[in-house]
Amino acid sequence: MKNNIPLLEPITSPWMESIVNDFKLQEDLLERYDSPLNIHNLHSFQSNIGEYLAFFKQYNFKSKIFYARKANKCNTLATVAFESGIGVDTASFAELKQCLDLNIKPENLVLTAAIKNTKLLRLAIRHEVLIIIDNEDEAKLIYKLCLEEDKQAMVGIRISGFEFQNKKLKSRFGVDMESVGGFILQFFDDESVRKSIRFTGFHFHLDGYNPQQRGAALHQTLDLIKTLRTYNFDPRFIDIGGGILINYLKSKEQWNNFQDELKNALLHERDPITYQNNGLGFIERDKKIEGQLATYPYYNETPKASFIKSILEVNNREKISVWERLEKMDIELRLEPGRSLLDQVGITMAKVAHRKQDAEGNILVGLEMNMTQMTSSSADFLLDPMVTYSNPDENKKEVEVYFTGAYCLERDFILKRKIALPKLPEIGDVVTFVNTGGYMMHFFETEAHLFELSQNIFGLNISEHTEAINFFKDENNLKVKQVYL
Ligand SMILES: Cc1ncc(COP(=O)(O)O)c(C=O)c1O
Repeated sequence: MKNNIPLLEPITSPWMESIVNDFKLQEDLLERYDSPLNIHNLHSFQSNIGEYLAFFKQYNFKSKIFYARKANKCNTLATVAFESGIGVDTASFAELKQCLDLNIKPENLVLTAAIKNTKLLRLAIRHEVLIIIDNEDEAKLIYKLCLEEDKQAMVGIRISGFEFQNKKLKSRFGVDMESVGGFILQFFDDESVRKSIRFTGFHFHLDGYNPQQRGAALHQTLDLIKTLRTYNFDPRFIDIGGGILINYLKSKEQWNNFQDELKNALLHERDPITYQNNGLGFIERDKKIEGQLATYPYYNETPKASFIKSILEVNNREKISVWERLEKMDIELRLEPGRSLLDQVGITMAKVAHRKQDAEGNILVGLEMNMTQMTSSSADFLLDPMVTYSNPDENKKEVEVYFTGAYCLERDFILKRKIALPKLPEIGDVVTFVNTGGYMMHFFETEAHLFELSQNIFGLNISEHTEAINFFKDENNLKVKQVYL
């Protein structure tokens, strides 16, 4: 019986390795900024932006990118996005207000908040920020506020309920495709409404990562625009939201092997590889595996621009591709990538606090962090962490461990996976989780037990780091303190 722990080696960047290979630097940083600590690299962020901008240059349709800042709380990234020639997608009052305070031009902002109250809408209307409407109540409130403010609002309409393979793609967001035409014709029938609200385009954001679905949704939106043109409406853009795949892992073989071994563990054909043999979505029933892996697809071969390319190449029934129709109909394609712009941008480092053995013989390594400081919205973050040892060559003996956190919850396991290490970490050794910039480090972060939120630091040229650490704290940054290396 094969019992070794399957590896899931992450893709890393030289800047990450230069930190992970330097225990002294890590020790200094954690001493100065506490554990856990988030480190960002702006060059990686800029290079991701550059990849998208270069990609769109090959097409003749217009395009516009908005960085979805919900994926990371740091305002530096919003500023750098703007300075690098793209816009910012905001999803709350604070996100929008902060971007305006950072002097990001309103025409480079979009408001896509799921819930929009009067205060938020008034801010957007006063600053002439494009608002993506989710429902009729919002549209009515915008109209009322426009009259009060004596302003014209610019809006896009979020749509959902596309057909794919004879099934409806259900969503709690947006106006359903079956009723959106009627809504537009009725709501904008009024001259005064038309004067107050300029309807300029459509928006959708689909869950899942199927380029065929996105392509189908784009074709259906283009069909809708064609119909609306006959009624004298002229929407100019389709914003397809975010959800552009990235690749976190080095090896397809490891990714497939991990899933096979997880299934074997559930079938009791090997030792567990997750805490309490958690199936991460797979279920064992009558000695058979059911269900699906409920994690992000951490390995994939069509990330970023190649994922968008595969969407643009989806044909409609007349065999015309999305990109051809965008060009012909002169429709601007907009995107709101969050995670994919943050690929290779962040790491999260934490100090080892203790080691122990539980009643079942599991080795638990307690970290000075909690589970909310590195959490995936999917069933687990499936990347092997990297351990930096203060004494790398002493007492080498392979161990298998689980990493645990500081909350008073039995479930505060930083990763559900068991991790194989070349030796047991000592107290003060450092564990680094890589590629955590998109969602992992911030999205679920809480302050239970009055633990402080982790600090966020930025390195402009981290490989030439060490000595010169300049402090920069931004009071406007919603508790996220930013410090530049
Ligand atoms: C409307 C909208 N736009 C953009 C995004 C960003 O998606 P991602 O970070 O996966 O690119 C999201 C994510 O939930 C979203 O809901």
